Amino acid sequence: MRSNRHPSVSKSFDLSGYISRVCRSVDSALDGFLPAEKTKPATIHKAMRYSIFAGGKRMRPAICLAAAEACGGEWKDAMAAACAIECIHTYSLIHDDLPAMDNDDFRRGKPTNHKVFGEGIAILAGDALLTQAFEILAAAPRRSRHSPSDFILDLARASGSLQLIAGQVADLEAEGKTIPIADLRYIHEQKTSALLCCSVRLGGMSVNCTASQLRALTEFGYNVGLAFQIIDDILDVTQTTEKLGKTAGKDTTSKKATYPALLGLEKSRKEASRLTDRAFAALKPFKKRAAALNALAEYLLKRDH
Ligand code: IPE
Ligand code: IPE
Ligand code: MG
Ligand code: MG
Ligand code: MG
Repeated sequence: MRSNRHPSVSKSFDLSGYISRVCRSVDSALDGFLPAEKTKPATIHKAMRYSIFAGGKRMRPAICLAAAEACGGEWKDAMAAACAIECIHTYSLIHDDLPAMDNDDFRRGKPTNHKVFGEGIAILAGDALLTQAFEILAAAPRRSRHSPSDFILDLARASGSLQLIAGQVADLEAEGKTIPIADLRYIHEQKTSALLCCSVRLGGMSVNCTASQLRALTEFGYNVGLAFQIIDDILDVTQTTEKLGKTAGKDTTSKKATYPALLGLEKSRKEASRLTDRAFAALKPFKKRAAALNALAEYLLKRDH
């Protein structure tokens, strides 16, 4: 596991310890959910596990579990949702890195899935993780306020052709073009914010949150998610490949539409900070129970990888 998975910032809330515990619990749950490496056909299960356990930051599971906590619930009830989200996220990265998309050689500090297993298996490993996510979500607990189909709808919509895929399509189509800021915002809302927002929503729903709690979590998730992609764009320009675990400067060479390219670094940082303030404000009703979500939102803004 890469050591830079853990945040260096820690104040009164022990965020570093919190994230370590999230990683341990989520890794162990994922290990139980995914077929063993030797299960036939071994190649696909090896490829799925290669990317899942490559050392991602596990930020979506972390905000999912922290959202459950904010609503007065326990991690164990949101663990299936947290793992399902991480499977969708990892699938989206495997496909995002393919030569036909961003054509990247490094991810999570290791060669990308297709570099190790070839493009055919990488495509299938992505497909398998996407499908696996819904199988895992079937293990989510039954709740009086949220039916099993509510969980499936939320995850399917966030990952589908109106949201995550929509963002990836628009991202590809915007390569080499100067687009209006509203169009760029749309790309970032769909390709990234939608799944982060879904992570917090499913965390709350897993512990039977009320309608008003779900509205507050949605507001939090949307803003944190949009800020997350702006920071990802900024880090591509300001950090090293070693620190990021993926090739730095790639957005510039690929002529991607990004916040720094359109607004410059300073305005991009201000926008991420403004969105994070809105996310903090959305947590007010949860009072002290939102300590972890608060600390995570701050970390996501200040992170260096
Ligand atoms: C990278 O996400 C892709 C984006 C949506 C910006 P992360 O920065 O969360 O990647 P991992 O999971 O830590 O590898
Ligand atoms: C990735 O956006 C978004 C999804 C995978 C849905 P990026 O292309 O900016 O992510 P990185 O920089 O490769 O991690
Ligand atoms: Mg991309
Ligand atoms: Mg990419
Ligand atoms: Mg990026």
